[in-house]
Amino acid sequence: MTPSADVDWAALRAQARDAMSHAYAPYSGYPVGVAALVDDGRTVSGCNVENASYGLGLCAECGLVSELQRTGGGRLTHFTCVDGKGDILVPCGRCRQLLYEFGGADLLLETPAGILPLAEMLPQAFGPDHLTK
Ligand code: THU
Repeated sequence: MTPSADVDWAALRAQARDAMSHAYAPYSGYPVGVAALVDDGRTVSGCNVENASYGLGLCAECGLVSELQRTGGGRLTHFTCVDGKGDILVPCGRCRQLLYEFGGADLLLETPAGILPLAEMLPQAFGPDHLTK
């Protein structure tokens, strides 16, 4: 995987901010954007899409993993998430699980506390390996 220092995190964050600008968040008023690098060099992104039936709202990460799969699959390697101000945001718990499916423990996340592997953000994760043991 590309080392964290060789990744242009500011450019990735700019893509997350652009995605955030397309968010549909009329109920929470809390737009979110995400972007990630894929192991083949692609970039994927997403924004939250809420719903009048509040519980059906989709986090930005849902759009990101959907785009990942739709555009050819692969593994997520580097991920960032921003709020409506463009500031770095931690992904919610459910979305850490979504990211684990496609990035695993080594996926690097940009967080307010620095660049961290998903293993530290989702310890002892349940994942695909459990289903094959
Ligand atoms: N949200 C995301 O899109 N991703 C996260 O990781 C955190 C929360 C969205 C869901 C909802 O539309 C809004 O932020 C407020 O919770």
